[in-house]
Amino acid sequence: MRLEGKVAVVTGGGNGLGRATARRFASEGARVVVADLIDDLGEETSQMIADAGGTASFIHCDAVSISDNHQMAAHALETYGAIDVLVTAAGVSHPGYKSGDQEASVKWFAKRMDYVERPADELLELDLEDFRQVMAINLEGTLLAAQACGAPMVEAGNGGSIVTIASIAAKHPDAGPLPYVCSKSAVWMLTKKLARLLASSGIRVNAIGPGYIDTHMTSMIDLIPEDLLTQFFANIPMGRKGIPDEIASTALFLASDEASYFTGEILHPDGGYFTE
Ligand SMILES: NC(=O)c1ccc[n+]([C@@H]2O[C@H](COP(=O)([O-])OP(=O)(O)OC[C@H]3O[C@@H](n4cnc5c(N)ncnc54)[C@H](O)[C@@H]3O)[C@@H](O)[C@H]2O)c1
Repeated sequence: MRLEGKVAVVTGGGNGLGRATARRFASEGARVVVADLIDDLGEETSQMIADAGGTASFIHCDAVSISDNHQMAAHALETYGAIDVLVTAAGVSHPGYKSGDQEASVKWFAKRMDYVERPADELLELDLEDFRQVMAINLEGTLLAAQACGAPMVEAGNGGSIVTIASIAAKHPDAGPLPYVCSKSAVWMLTKKLARLLASSGIRVNAIGPGYIDTHMTSMIDLIPEDLLTQFFANIPMGRKGIPDEIASTALFLASDEASYFTGEILHPDGGYFTE
């Protein structure tokens, strides 16, 4: 029960890494606020936690909305009286991404495969609005959640832990589309900046930079032609995608007192991707 007595807010808690983290935190004793854009998914996570005997409450939050983020923090304070931990798992891989909409993701991915033959087109065909949308959700969304939840954390004076979800794409340009790698690199810098700004308040801020993890976001990788798929897995010494629980374990470590001397750090559960 490493989070006994703690209150955790998890954005993007409706699916994938956020859901796994919310469930894991609850099983370790935390009372969890599950926040997500898609209400059905968020409610489902909250119900899964309740069914397992844990404590959770869902609140709708669009990561890019200042008022939604403030309502999310207020909901945590009203429901559980404090915020000790924030995990920012809300994110998208591309503009128009909708978690769970496999058909749309497959269509998008097919278009991306064209860039294998004509890489310059990824730059030349880029729409600025698409770039801004990904930056807004991944980067500004992380910032807004940290601001909204950070305020009561600083005011309470009890310290705490913020865990952002970056990616291997924070450091490697081939690990995602152009807007995505830029957004994740910026999330990583934001994490380091926040670590410095919040250290004197006793709040640790760290990032997780996962490799390819088996969620809706990466489900189309399996559609890559055989030769490319072999090449893809050749870059991962462990030869497989990770599972969401492996990220939840990393988040649990960073959120807990076991990581008491970690701040401004990024951990890469990536199956060895960065050994090159
Ligand atoms: N799956 C991977 O391989 C991988 C690797 C590295 C980083 N990440 C990052 O992890 C995070 C979670 O991705 P995932 O793989 O779990 O995908 P996912 O689709 O399973 O989950 C993403 C969640 O974020 C929510 N979300 C999306 N836009 C939102 C918004 N505007 N406001 C609030 N919630 C929103 C979705 O509804 C969904 O519940 C993302 O930031 C992603 O970039 C994923």
